[in-house]
Amino acid sequence: MKSITIRPTLASWRKESRGLLQQGVAPEYIFFDDGTQTRSLFSEEQLLTEDYPTPHKVKNATSIRMPKSFLGLAELVACNRENERWRLLYEAIYRLNNGEKSLLSISTEPLVRRLQSLAKEVTRDRHKMKAFVRFRKAGEDSHSGREQFVAWFEPTHSIVELTAPFFAKRFASFDWSILTPERCAHWDGDEITFTEGVDSSQAPKDDELEDYWRTYYASIFNPARLKLKAMQSEMPKKYWKNLPEAPLIAELTARSSLQTEQMIEQGPNREREHVSAKVPLGAQHPDTDQAGLSPQEALARIEELSFRQIDEAAVACRHCPLYEEATQTVFGEGPPHARLMIIGEQPGDQEDIAGRPFVGPAGQLLDRALAQAGLVREEIYLTNVVKHFKFKTQERSRLHQRAHAAEIHHCKPWVLAEILKVRPEIIITLGTTAAQALIDPNFQILRERGLQVTELAHLAPRVIATVHPSFLLRQKESRKAAQEFSLFVNDLQLAAISDPSKRLSPSPRQTEYHRDSFKNGR
Ligand code: URA
Repeated sequence: MKSITIRPTLASWRKESRGLLQQGVAPEYIFFDDGTQTRSLFSEEQLLTEDYPTPHKVKNATSIRMPKSFLGLAELVACNRENERWRLLYEAIYRLNNGEKSLLSISTEPLVRRLQSLAKEVTRDRHKMKAFVRFRKAGEDSHSGREQFVAWFEPTHSIVELTAPFFAKRFASFDWSILTPERCAHWDGDEITFTEGVDSSQAPKDDELEDYWRTYYASIFNPARLKLKAMQSEMPKKYWKNLPEAPLIAELTARSSLQTEQMIEQGPNREREHVSAKVPLGAQHPDTDQAGLSPQEALARIEELSFRQIDEAAVACRHCPLYEEATQTVFGEGPPHARLMIIGEQPGDQEDIAGRPFVGPAGQLLDRALAQAGLVREEIYLTNVVKHFKFKTQERSRLHQRAHAAEIHHCKPWVLAEILKVRPEIIITLGTTAAQALIDPNFQILRERGLQVTELAHLAPRVIATVHPSFLLRQKESRKAAQEFSLFVNDLQLAAISDPSKRLSPSPRQTEYHRDSFKNGR
């Protein structure tokens, strides 16, 4: 048995392994020492004195193969802290180069299973890192003026270098450091650098956004849906200490059984009221004090925050997985106290790349309709219910996918915070998703468009739902398309006139102005 000294990196292991493969050294004769392993398996004596047998076969350097499929697996396995990982990888590459070319496709082969399971552990750890890193504001760079954020995280495996590019892409707009006990990553807007690990005392513990997170978490917490086991497996206790929302978990959990009983006792109507009261920042609801805040206090909290702070908190949101595939969070834009707010469904392909709402084909159609309705885009606050593009890839295109109810639910605090900051006089929701998310889960867009909605009276005096511009883009027949376009302009005109009773040309689908009268059949 010979000990081969390497640095604990895949590159170093690859270099040494190539040499060993060339000499035909079998895996059972070597031990890779990267300076981090415990050597209990072998005595110092064994390691130092026993050499491997004289190589039986010398290979040409160019004949050594490290196939892509192997390297993909090796990249993950190399991050696992398992002592044996280098030897297992060497065994696999040795066999791949010695007559077992299809080794990796034999899923029943114990070595392959072992490597896959090590890789899976690393993937899970990376997923946790992406979900549970919470940046805290640390200051501002005196030269560039860029804000600086710091996060403390304790990964199980050595995943910092592999996972840092994800954070650089997601949080490109501010400087950040992710500190861990083994390795630290730093982003300055241009490149990622790495330094040695530090201890947790070097990471800031609190900042002004933490209260906001706690309010948010408490308000989305639904006691009737509490599944402690699932919650602990998704958010293992180990990560709790670094999450601003964590101090609430025990308290909310303890309260939950009592609350669930009350909800059952109160029956279905009361339950619905209660669930909608969970909607964070819906400060007018009587039950919002779950976070220990009165409605007025919750509202005041949000009003204290700047748009920028809310935007940045939205950028850091990992409450659903949509952030993983999207390029960036697309927050709303427009005058901070716009009279009119238009709320769409989610950014599309072009919005995802540009980082701005309504810049793609649907946005261009909206622009034309706004102009015809006598409205000026620059005077409108434009946003979406969901802040990340959800898509599936087909060939080279990214095809829009509707967000699930849970994804919409998790994203809702951001749009509600925007409404509470802007306090628009009029809100127009575009399409079914926005109407059902904000007004009523059973909202029927084609029947109820253009009617004044009373459900959101606590957020804006006038709320109107209309169709989504992409509905118009889908109209194939030109006469129908023109007709639908003019109905859409008609609905937008409701916002252009200050007194709704002076509506210019009522949509043929509308019989009454108020949705309530419509619903009651009057
Ligand atoms: N569709 C939307 O709902 N929002 C956008 O920003 C773009 C397309």
